[in-house]
Amino acid sequence: MSSVSFPALITKKRNKEELSRDEIEAFVNGIANNSVQDSQIGAMLMAMYLNDLTMRETTDLTRAMMNSGDTLSWPEEWKGNLVDKHSTGGVGDKVSLILAPALAACGVKVPMISGRGLEHTGGTLDKLESIPGFQVSVTSEKMLDIIETVGCCIVGQTKKLCPADSKMYAIRDVTATVDNLGLITGSIISKKAAEKIDALVLDVKFGNGAFLKDIDTARKLARMMVGSGNGLGINTVSLLTSMNSPLGKMVGNALEVAETVWTLQGNGPDDLLNLVIELGGELLSVAGKAPSSEEGRRMVKDTISDGTALARFCHMAKAQGVDPAKADALCAPDTDVFSVLPRAGAIKELLSRNRLCDRY
Ligand code: URA
Repeated sequence: MSSVSFPALITKKRNKEELSRDEIEAFVNGIANNSVQDSQIGAMLMAMYLNDLTMRETTDLTRAMMNSGDTLSWPEEWKGNLVDKHSTGGVGDKVSLILAPALAACGVKVPMISGRGLEHTGGTLDKLESIPGFQVSVTSEKMLDIIETVGCCIVGQTKKLCPADSKMYAIRDVTATVDNLGLITGSIISKKAAEKIDALVLDVKFGNGAFLKDIDTARKLARMMVGSGNGLGINTVSLLTSMNSPLGKMVGNALEVAETVWTLQGNGPDDLLNLVIELGGELLSVAGKAPSSEEGRRMVKDTISDGTALARFCHMAKAQGVDPAKADALCAPDTDVFSVLPRAGAIKELLSRNRLCDRY
């Protein structure tokens, strides 16, 4: 678009008209290059919040947000093999820590960009950082190097990736416009699309421990995210899963790493293991790496029973900065994981006394 009037675009959305792809791109580009004022962003977000975005507008918004910054690029021969997973967040949800290495052991590449905790749910990066030395902040060159050798990495977002999302999210947070399905979709899927993956599985949680309490809203979000992911050329599938009770038995960063290791060693709780297998099976199937989700589930399960997923986890920890001896100690079947995870020591003490809280 040659010359854009941002007030005219806000008026159009305020009046319940659909914005064109060019108009959405112009607005998001304006956010990225600071030519739109914060007050205008707030007004547009409120217009989008109150009048909702159509599926087409949501996909256009997602694409524009993805293109607002850098996108990752990979060797040509990896084409078709790049996959990832996203969860809307739940209590005790350590699935990514287990699934990324399990998928790598199945032969696909996983450039997982994860986040910090949101509200009461812990973030994957915070959990990994409880392993002494684990680096979540790496350059894209280093990321490529780790994926080349390990098959997966779990890292944080850089400022250059989807800068429009960072700005929009900060403004959504202070303008009561966070919980809109189109805006949530744009925010989540743009960051996954910037990874330039071929397939994506979404774990959309509902229930009293999730940010979406009812299954109908969760289903609507799942449909929107699947539509937007597919619209951007990513083979996307979603599972709706209950968050009415914590996942697994451990909640808290270091404890969740401990449960990750136990699960990778074949001693995990059934609910956690089953969810890892379900999500992995669907993903391998939609990525065309397994002839069916049933076969995909079998592939993921095998990597846990034969120890190859655990070996990838250990390799990833070393590649992301953990002292090799400590990584080996963390993953060895006969060592006490709490000797490597110092912050879990106090809780181990409570667990050994069969108490989860103590009075002083
Ligand atoms: N996570 C995100 O990254 N964005 C949202 O809008 C909600 C959850």
